[in-house]
Amino acid sequence: MTAPVPEGGDSLSIRQAQRADLLAVVRIENASFSQPWPHNAFETFLGEPGFLVAIDNRSIVGYVVSDVTPNYGRNLGHVKDIAVHPDYREAGIGSALLTRALSVLSAYDADSIKLEVRPSNNDARRLYRSFGFDPLRRVPDYYDNDEDAIVMIYDLE
Ligand SMILES: CC(C)(COP(=O)(O)OP(=O)(O)OC[C@H]1O[C@@H](n2cnc3c(N)ncnc32)[C@H](O)[C@@H]1OP(=O)(O)O)[C@@H](O)C(=O)NCCC(=O)NCCS
Repeated sequence: MTAPVPEGGDSLSIRQAQRADLLAVVRIENASFSQPWPHNAFETFLGEPGFLVAIDNRSIVGYVVSDVTPNYGRNLGHVKDIAVHPDYREAGIGSALLTRALSVLSAYDADSIKLEVRPSNNDARRLYRSFGFDPLRRVPDYYDNDEDAIVMIYDLE
Protein backbone atom coordinates (compact mmCIF):
# COMPACT_ATOMS: atom_id res chain seq x y z
CA MET A 1 0.00 0.00 0.00
CA THR A 2 2.10 2.92 -1.23
CA ALA A 3 0.45 6.16 -2.16
CA PRO A 4 1.99 9.52 -2.90
CA VAL A 5 1.21 12.27 -0.43
CA PRO A 6 1.18 15.90 -1.53
CA GLU A 7 2.33 17.36 1.80
CA GLY A 8 5.87 16.02 1.91
CA GLY A 9 7.05 16.63 -1.63
CA ASP A 10 6.79 14.69 -4.89
CA SER A 11 9.07 11.77 -4.03
CA LEU A 12 7.59 10.95 -0.63
CA SER A 13 5.48 7.87 -0.06
CA ILE A 14 3.92 6.47 3.09
CA ARG A 15 3.09 2.81 3.70
CA GLN A 16 2.65 0.37 6.53
CA ALA A 17 5.92 -0.62 8.22
CA GLN A 18 7.55 -3.96 7.41
CA ARG A 19 10.13 -5.99 9.32
CA ALA A 20 12.86 -4.93 6.87
CA ASP A 21 12.24 -1.27 7.82
CA LEU A 22 12.98 -1.73 11.51
CA LEU A 23 16.74 -1.10 11.49
CA ALA A 24 16.25 2.23 9.76
CA VAL A 25 13.38 3.09 12.10
CA VAL A 26 15.52 2.33 15.16
CA ARG A 27 18.35 4.44 13.77
CA ILE A 28 16.02 7.44 13.45
CA GLU A 29 14.59 6.71 16.91
CA ASN A 30 18.11 6.72 18.41
CA ALA A 31 18.94 9.99 16.69
CA SER A 32 15.71 11.57 17.92
CA PHE A 33 15.19 10.63 21.57
CA SER A 34 17.30 10.53 24.74
CA GLN A 35 15.31 7.47 25.86
CA PRO A 36 14.69 5.65 22.57
CA TRP A 37 12.38 2.68 22.11
CA PRO A 38 14.38 -0.54 21.62
CA HIS A 39 14.07 -2.68 18.46
CA ASN A 40 11.67 -5.15 20.08
CA ALA A 41 9.22 -2.38 21.03
CA PHE A 42 8.79 -1.57 17.32
CA GLU A 43 8.57 -5.29 16.49
CA THR A 44 5.46 -5.54 18.68
CA PHE A 45 3.67 -3.13 16.35
CA LEU A 46 4.45 -4.88 13.05
CA GLY A 47 1.13 -5.59 11.36
CA GLU A 48 -0.52 -2.63 13.07
CA PRO A 49 -2.20 -0.45 10.40
CA GLY A 50 -1.11 2.69 12.26
CA PHE A 51 2.59 1.80 12.16
CA LEU A 52 3.63 3.74 9.08
CA VAL A 53 6.92 4.69 7.48
CA ALA A 54 7.71 7.60 5.17
CA ILE A 55 10.02 6.81 2.27
CA ASP A 56 11.98 9.31 0.23
CA ASN A 57 14.08 7.99 -2.63
CA ARG A 58 13.95 4.44 -1.23
CA SER A 59 15.17 5.54 2.22
CA ILE A 60 13.10 5.45 5.37
CA VAL A 61 13.02 9.06 6.55
CA GLY A 62 10.37 8.91 9.27
CA TYR A 63 7.74 6.83 10.96
CA VAL A 64 4.72 6.95 13.21
CA VAL A 65 3.43 4.27 15.57
CA SER A 66 -0.26 4.54 16.40
CA ASP A 67 -3.13 2.22 17.27
CA VAL A 68 -6.73 2.06 18.44
CA THR A 69 -7.84 0.26 21.61
CA PRO A 70 -11.31 -0.12 23.13
CA ASN A 71 -11.64 1.87 26.32
CA TYR A 72 -14.85 1.83 28.37
CA GLY A 73 -17.08 1.53 25.31
CA ARG A 74 -15.11 4.04 23.25
CA ASN A 75 -12.28 3.54 20.80
CA LEU A 76 -9.22 5.42 21.86
CA GLY A 77 -6.64 6.22 19.21
CA HIS A 78 -3.09 6.73 20.44
CA VAL A 79 -0.12 8.22 18.62
CA LYS A 80 2.65 6.47 20.53
CA ASP A 81 5.77 7.55 18.66
CA ILE A 82 6.63 9.78 15.71
CA ALA A 83 9.97 10.94 14.40
CA VAL A 84 11.59 12.21 11.23
CA HIS A 85 15.27 11.79 10.39
CA PRO A 86 17.07 14.97 11.56
CA ASP A 87 18.23 15.74 7.98
CA TYR A 88 14.67 15.62 6.67
CA ARG A 89 12.80 17.73 9.22
CA GLU A 90 10.79 20.88 8.45
CA ALA A 91 9.90 19.63 5.00
CA GLY A 92 6.37 18.48 5.81
CA ILE A 93 7.17 14.78 6.45
CA GLY A 94 6.00 14.82 10.09
CA SER A 95 2.76 16.46 8.99
CA ALA A 96 2.31 13.92 6.20
CA LEU A 97 2.83 11.03 8.64
CA LEU A 98 0.43 12.51 11.16
CA THR A 99 -2.18 13.18 8.50
CA ARG A 100 -2.00 9.57 7.34
CA ALA A 101 -2.02 8.18 10.91
CA LEU A 102 -5.10 10.22 11.81
CA SER A 103 -6.91 8.94 8.75
CA VAL A 104 -5.97 5.31 9.54
CA LEU A 105 -7.12 5.69 13.16
CA SER A 106 -10.32 7.32 12.00
CA ALA A 107 -10.90 4.46 9.52
CA TYR A 108 -10.50 2.06 12.45
CA ASP A 109 -13.28 3.90 14.30
CA ALA A 110 -11.26 5.92 16.81
CA ASP A 111 -13.55 8.32 18.70
CA SER A 112 -10.62 10.39 19.90
CA ILE A 113 -6.85 10.33 19.58
CA LYS A 114 -4.41 11.04 22.38
CA LEU A 115 -0.69 11.49 22.58
CA GLU A 116 1.88 12.48 25.15
CA VAL A 117 4.49 15.16 24.57
CA ARG A 118 7.25 16.66 26.66
CA PRO A 119 6.52 20.26 27.70
CA SER A 120 10.01 21.14 26.38
CA ASN A 121 9.32 19.71 22.89
CA ASN A 122 8.14 22.89 21.22
CA ASP A 123 8.47 21.55 17.65
CA ALA A 124 6.19 18.60 18.34
CA ARG A 125 3.71 20.65 20.40
CA ARG A 126 3.41 23.21 17.60
CA LEU A 127 2.84 20.44 15.07
CA TYR A 128 0.11 18.83 17.19
CA ARG A 129 -1.59 22.17 17.88
CA SER A 130 -1.67 22.90 14.15
CA PHE A 131 -3.56 19.62 13.69
CA GLY A 132 -6.14 20.56 16.30
CA PHE A 133 -4.81 18.54 19.26
CA ASP A 134 -5.70 20.28 22.54
CA PRO A 135 -3.77 19.95 25.79
CA LEU A 136 -5.88 17.91 28.23
CA ARG A 137 -3.77 17.36 31.36
CA ARG A 138 -0.25 17.02 32.68
CA VAL A 139 1.09 13.67 33.91
CA PRO A 140 3.81 14.24 36.52
CA ASP A 141 7.10 12.34 36.08
CA TYR A 142 5.84 10.48 32.99
CA TYR A 143 9.26 10.20 31.39
CA ASP A 144 12.22 8.33 32.92
CA ASN A 145 14.11 11.57 33.59
CA ASP A 146 11.23 12.81 35.78
CA GLU A 147 9.93 15.13 33.09
CA ASP A 148 6.15 15.60 33.01
CA ALA A 149 4.09 14.75 29.95
CA ILE A 150 1.37 16.86 28.45
CA VAL A 151 -1.48 14.68 27.22
CA MET A 152 -3.04 16.16 24.10
CA ILE A 153 -6.34 15.04 22.64
CA TYR A 154 -8.02 15.23 19.25
CA ASP A 155 -11.74 14.54 19.14
CA LEU A 156 -13.13 12.84 16.06
CA GLU A 157 -16.77 12.80 17.21
C1 LIG B 1 8.23 16.53 15.67
C2 LIG B 1 8.75 16.06 14.29
C3 LIG B 1 8.27 14.63 14.06
C4 LIG B 1 8.17 16.98 13.20
O1 LIG B 1 8.60 16.45 11.94
P1 LIG B 1 8.83 17.42 10.68
O2 LIG B 1 8.96 16.55 9.48
O3 LIG B 1 9.94 18.37 10.96
O4 LIG B 1 7.43 18.18 10.67
P2 LIG B 1 6.90 19.16 9.52
O5 LIG B 1 7.99 19.50 8.56
O6 LIG B 1 5.67 18.57 8.99
O7 LIG B 1 6.50 20.42 10.35
C5 LIG B 1 7.48 21.08 11.20
C6 LIG B 1 7.63 22.51 10.78
O8 LIG B 1 8.19 22.59 9.48
C7 LIG B 1 7.39 23.49 8.71
N1 LIG B 1 7.44 23.05 7.32
C8 LIG B 1 6.65 22.13 6.76
N2 LIG B 1 6.97 22.01 5.45
C9 LIG B 1 7.99 22.86 5.24
C10 LIG B 1 8.76 23.20 4.11
N3 LIG B 1 8.53 22.63 2.92
N4 LIG B 1 9.75 24.09 4.26
C11 LIG B 1 10.00 24.65 5.44
N5 LIG B 1 9.29 24.40 6.54
C12 LIG B 1 8.30 23.52 6.44
C13 LIG B 1 6.03 23.36 9.28
O9 LIG B 1 5.23 24.49 8.99
C14 LIG B 1 6.34 23.29 10.73
O10 LIG B 1 6.64 24.60 11.17
P3 LIG B 1 6.20 25.10 12.57
O11 LIG B 1 6.99 24.28 13.55
O12 LIG B 1 6.58 26.54 12.57
O13 LIG B 1 4.73 24.84 12.68
C15 LIG B 1 10.31 16.15 14.21
O14 LIG B 1 10.71 17.43 14.64
C16 LIG B 1 11.03 15.10 15.04
O15 LIG B 1 11.27 13.98 14.58
N6 LIG B 1 11.41 15.47 16.28
C17 LIG B 1 12.15 14.52 17.15
C18 LIG B 1 11.25 13.43 17.65
C19 LIG B 1 10.08 13.98 18.43
O16 LIG B 1 10.24 14.89 19.23
N7 LIG B 1 8.89 13.39 18.18
C20 LIG B 1 7.67 13.80 18.87
C21 LIG B 1 7.57 13.15 20.17
S1 LIG B 1 6.07 13.65 21.03
